Amino acid sequence: MSKNLLYYGDNLDILRRYIKDESADLIYLDPPFKSNQDYNVLFAEKNGSNSKSQIKAFEDTWIWDEAAVESYAEMVECGPDKVSQALQGFRRFLGPSDMLAYLSMMAPRLVELNRVLKPTGTIYLHCDPTASHYLKMLMDAIFGGSHFQNEIVWYYRRYTAASNRLQRLHDIIFWYTKTSKWTFNEQREPYAETSGKKDSHYKQDEQGLWFRWQKRMGKKPYKVYLDERGKRVGDVWPLQHINASAKERLGYPTQKPEALLERIIVSSSNEGDVVLDPFCGCGTTVSVAERLNRQWMGIDITYLAIALIKHRLTSAYEGKEQYKVVGEPVSIPDAEALAKQDPYQFQWWALGLVGARPAEQKKGADKGIDGRLYFHDESEDAETKQIIFSVKAGNVTVSQVRDLRGVIERENAAIGVFITFNEPTKPMRKEAAEAGLYHSPGWKKKYPRLQLVTVAELLSGKGIKCPPSKHVNMTFKKAPKAKRKKDHTKHLPLF
Ligand SMILES: C[S@@+](CC[C@H](N)C(=O)[O-])C[C@H]1O[C@@H](n2cnc3c(N)ncnc32)[C@H](O)[C@@H]1O
Repeated sequence: MSKNLLYYGDNLDILRRYIKDESADLIYLDPPFKSNQDYNVLFAEKNGSNSKSQIKAFEDTWIWDEAAVESYAEMVECGPDKVSQALQGFRRFLGPSDMLAYLSMMAPRLVELNRVLKPTGTIYLHCDPTASHYLKMLMDAIFGGSHFQNEIVWYYRRYTAASNRLQRLHDIIFWYTKTSKWTFNEQREPYAETSGKKDSHYKQDEQGLWFRWQKRMGKKPYKVYLDERGKRVGDVWPLQHINASAKERLGYPTQKPEALLERIIVSSSNEGDVVLDPFCGCGTTVSVAERLNRQWMGIDITYLAIALIKHRLTSAYEGKEQYKVVGEPVSIPDAEALAKQDPYQFQWWALGLVGARPAEQKKGADKGIDGRLYFHDESEDAETKQIIFSVKAGNVTVSQVRDLRGVIERENAAIGVFITFNEPTKPMRKEAAEAGLYHSPGWKKKYPRLQLVTVAELLSGKGIKCPPSKHVNMTFKKAPKAKRKKDHTKHLPLF
């Protein structure tokens, strides 16, 4: 059985329920930064690039509400003493505020992460200056100030609109260890252009090695050689952000570059070690861990993130990746529970079973449509056809089937699919049959124009009837193929 695990759900619940004490060698977390923004997923355009079609994936707005009060009280009453003290101190200073709500959400999760980290393990907390000063105090309270190793500044270039303050061009990553013993693989990077060849202080010796003369008072001048391996990586990491046209960009908001995760994973773990990302988004950590032959665990609360990670891993590793998904519905009662708990996540999950994308939630847009799937059944540059979806958790009536027929006409869709819990009644089937057939010109086959599919059928592996298209899943942008790496020893060029 695969040891790699992808969990769908709230990480606090997943950590408490499934993740054993001292089971992770390396934890990287990139939680919401308290930016007071919503983040949208961009779906793939018909030609595979990112499109303007988007949907809200997650929110990063915190308010001092009932949930925050509960989380605060639980940590103050039952959390480790230092964490309780820290939160009480924050409350005295910040009052019952948005920031306190955010910190009360982070505290129990960081406590759990401390529990699951191995004694030789390392944790990297990614944040930005909005809350980094408070988060560092929380990390000190949980992991111990003496286990703080570095504050890493990830410096990037990006376009920012003109404003009356300095451009914000960096994130903060706190590195803590669990104890005073930890894995560290030193990283090297090329020397800057100004050292070595282009710096007049350096000369080449008869073997071609670069050196400079060091003069010290009272000593004979002696040679200092440039280290062939490059210079040791410091705590400021100038690494490119993912630009708009980057191949690795998948349309998930806040996606981090693979180069950043590669540096963290290579520095602080070895092959076979377990890497955990409890806010894994579109799966940058898990994909890089897979490429570097680490075991991995990823957790996300947004079903769109889980669907995108599955798609990313399949495109990058061509189905050779092995992992188990935990927490997504596998039975009707599970699916019913999800529909009750969060109707949107239920819709996203149901649409994910057929590879469809959720429709935009804008007012007035896509009326009567919950999802879409694009396909080509002639040639790839011929007209793009669409299948539209309506997902209903409650009872469905024959008039709703009739409405979907109207939407198929209005949208000029090839096929329309109703996904329901209940078995369709006879009148519903009759209404669906009256919608007729879609004739696929490429495949010279006919498909029912209006299909009624139950969640039970989808769970049992029955798909929808539609033309097989090479690009039938055009929902997410394809991730580039990944090359697994065996040896990460870097032999960087000197200049
Ligand atoms: C900043 S994004 C992470 C992006 C990620 N590093 C990447 O490269 O794609 C934060 C993620 O945390 C998830 N999230 C927020 N609250 C969560 C929770 N309580 N449990 C699990 N995931 C959560 C959001 O759905 C979002 O995908």
